[in-house]
Amino acid sequence: MKGLILSGGKGTRLRPLTYTRAKQLIPVANKPVLFRVIETIRDAGIRDIGIVIGDTGDEIRKAVGDGSQFGDVKITYIPQESPDGLAHAVKISGDFLGDESFVMFLGDNVLQGGISTLIADFESNDWNSQIVLKEVENPSSFGVAALRPDGTVEYLVEKPEPGTEPSNLALVGIYMFDNNIFKAVNAIEPSDRGELEITDAIQWLTENNYTVSPHVHKGWWIDTGKWGDMLEANSFVMDESLANTPPAERISASSEVSEDSVVDSRVIVMDGAKIINSTVRGPAIIGRNVTVEDSFVGSYTSLYHDVTIRGCEIERSIVLENTIIENIDVRLQDSLIGRDVQVRHASKKPRSLRLNLGDNSNVWLV
Ligand code: TTP
Repeated sequence: MKGLILSGGKGTRLRPLTYTRAKQLIPVANKPVLFRVIETIRDAGIRDIGIVIGDTGDEIRKAVGDGSQFGDVKITYIPQESPDGLAHAVKISGDFLGDESFVMFLGDNVLQGGISTLIADFESNDWNSQIVLKEVENPSSFGVAALRPDGTVEYLVEKPEPGTEPSNLALVGIYMFDNNIFKAVNAIEPSDRGELEITDAIQWLTENNYTVSPHVHKGWWIDTGKWGDMLEANSFVMDESLANTPPAERISASSEVSEDSVVDSRVIVMDGAKIINSTVRGPAIIGRNVTVEDSFVGSYTSLYHDVTIRGCEIERSIVLENTIIENIDVRLQDSLIGRDVQVRHASKKPRSLRLNLGDNSNVWLV
């Protein structure tokens, strides 16, 4: 089997961060979402992985390279001229996929527990496709599946009008196909929003007597497409990362924690980080060469490398590399802060708020 990761798209819902960076490279628990996706596919035994890339392709090529940093993984890049839909991404990947079956994984999705069992199930059955479903509270935001009483897929609908959803089972961004999917993607027409929809392609398979087997996923799953989802994914993945990191390995030997600091046991402190006169409450991740001074870092906060937090309180937030946050006298929480940002409280009078924000920035004074 091969793997196909979709990392094109526009990422409009994550602006302003996605003006300057591929959303799939935004770190969750200090590791880019795309790296997690590659590792998940690799851990299911798949080594040959294609990545569909769009406008942010150069950045993705630079970060991922030929795949050797992930062990025995070979990466092939598949440029998509414009984001014309998930089924379009499959259509342009024909040369890479050949006749082989494959797992398609959206490059901005995070799933609890990996996909090894799913891949094994698909390989040991005669299904033409396997889709992953998850019970959600807001099905109208997703592709939704209607199942027959015997559990097989009856039909699929993309983002149904609220109140018309046939079930609460959303399509998770992980799909398995054999090469009959190419008949489907070549047969369907673009939807009203102008995209070749994967839901239409799967619907075509069911209408033409190909077997589509549904799997209802019981663990957590996050599509990190929006700011709030990103913070939620960060919390889930941080719990998972801590569970996989033995207590003795959580604090790097090359970090410094001053005697007047308090660092919980559920905190990862990476190489070269300095924690001075501060309290860090876990779960939290303090990245490489981060400085935390005279501050409180609360639960579910990830500070990416080279961040400085001085004289502040911050909780349930993600801060990206090289950002400096100093002397803010209200607690920052539920915040997603990009690279090279400066948030400072100057002591000048009169007190005022001085902002220099990019397009689509959000500031909440709560
Ligand atoms: P989406 O989140 O559906 O689309 P998007 O990335 O353009 O984001 P937004 O809606 O905020 O503008 O895409 C899911 C994943 O699939 C994501 O990793 C991007 C990728 N993708 C492609 O590779 N090609 C495409 O044509 C589309 C639509 C998405």
